[in-house]
Amino acid sequence: MKRLLLLNGPNINRLGQREEQIYGSFTLKDIEKKVEQTIEPYGYCLDSFQSNSEGELIDRLHAANDQYEGIIFNPAAYTHTSIALGDAVKAINTPVIEVHISNVYERETFRHQSMIASGCIGQIVGFGMQSYVLAALAFVKQDESFI
Ligand code: DQA
Repeated sequence: MKRLLLLNGPNINRLGQREEQIYGSFTLKDIEKKVEQTIEPYGYCLDSFQSNSEGELIDRLHAANDQYEGIIFNPAAYTHTSIALGDAVKAINTPVIEVHISNVYERETFRHQSMIASGCIGQIVGFGMQSYVLAALAFVKQDESFI
């Protein structure tokens, strides 16, 4: 069975209780369930990992090398600060899609910069929980048209 990795950074474990006006009321569990349901019909299964620690995320990226068809990665606040995570994405062969729940480009200017994006095959922002679903579809439907 083909596998995708869902990787989430700091404070994503607080979804559902965290700034609901920005991030909505869904939880990380809800995201995992939705992505799983999306990819299952295509013969894919999902592993999920969340950490508030930069080093743990780097270690998980390294361990994921060549183990997955793709990685759906929300680096959260580390997006804007972490050269080390950006380097880790570039240090592995597995394709990564960067996702954000909110539209970071309509928020504070410090959120407009991504240290991760240049190592990714694409970026999906601003669609709430659907950002993850769209990234999952981009991987599982990469050989066929979306339309
Ligand atoms: C976020 C956007 C980041 O700027 C922020 O630090 C987060 C969540 C998002 O998914 O919208 O924690 O990655």
